[in-house]
Amino acid sequence: MTDHHHHPHHHHHNHAADADEWGESAMAELLDLDAEVLHTFLSEVTDVLAQLTRDEPPHRILDLGSGTGAGTLALLQRFEDTEATAVDRSPRLLDHIRGKARARGVEDRVRAVQADLDAAWPDFGAVDLVWASASLHHLTDPDRGLREIFESLRPGGFLAVIEMAGFPRFLPDDVGRGRPGLEARCHAARAEAHAESLPDLGSDWGPRLSRAGFTVEVERPFTIDLRPPLPEPTARYAQASLRMLRSRIAGKLSSDDLATLDHLLDSDGPDGLLRRDDLTVRAERTLWAARRP
Ligand SMILES: C[S@@+](CC[C@H](N)C(=O)[O-])C[C@H]1O[C@@H](n2cnc3c(N)ncnc32)[C@H](O)[C@@H]1O
Repeated sequence: MTDHHHHPHHHHHNHAADADEWGESAMAELLDLDAEVLHTFLSEVTDVLAQLTRDEPPHRILDLGSGTGAGTLALLQRFEDTEATAVDRSPRLLDHIRGKARARGVEDRVRAVQADLDAAWPDFGAVDLVWASASLHHLTDPDRGLREIFESLRPGGFLAVIEMAGFPRFLPDDVGRGRPGLEARCHAARAEAHAESLPDLGSDWGPRLSRAGFTVEVERPFTIDLRPPLPEPTARYAQASLRMLRSRIAGKLSSDDLATLDHLLDSDGPDGLLRRDDLTVRAERTLWAARRP
């Protein structure tokens, strides 16, 4: 071993990397809670795919921008005789998937591959089903991504795209110190921030799928509307979601709104989300299921 290897960690502090790491573990927690709280939605989506593929069930599955593996694991459960390749650019999230796959005893059926889908794509071999949940809108050029997906699929294979129309709503309208409508203002600020940073969020994917050569077989909006009393992870899901939202829009909120939001996010505070019994989860997601002819 060279001397260099005795000192793999440089002692200067890389604040950008620290922020990324914090962001990633917060993201991992949020994605896991999302899968837990919205498990009914996830199983409805895999039901639709099972129907579509009933004559020729998939064997090889590709989960693009797999996050913590919600899709990968739901699909492995739904389709017995399958193997999945989970692809993400985050090594940490891929480790998380490997851990979850081991915990569920399906590690032999999961391959976790690190790749940046904005760069040249690895050769994934011919796959039967591609799953892209809340990931296409992250790509710099999603239409190029769709063409790559088309090439990866065998003829007759399916692509499932899941995207969300907006950010979920958790709070009653009267929240906002002296000025109700805090959450609506947060969402307006988010829309403004994302209009620049994520222009493809909320896109109509149907025509884009057709242009890439796919036949769109299903376009199905799902309305998620969970009302109290809700099980325990819901409040943590709301907290993790609004924390993520806060980090994106803090600069766009008034100091009053920011203070109210911080009271809501405070795990120990009397006004914290974790103590409320009036939270909801209201969200819109759309599934597009498209076939490579
Ligand atoms: C909002 S998360 C969705 C995760 C998961 N599909 C789900 O629905 O729970 C988006 C994921 O896409 C990944 N991602 C974003 N851009 C990417 C890129 N260019 N290449 C690979 N992965 C990317 C992120 O690391 C993140 O895990």
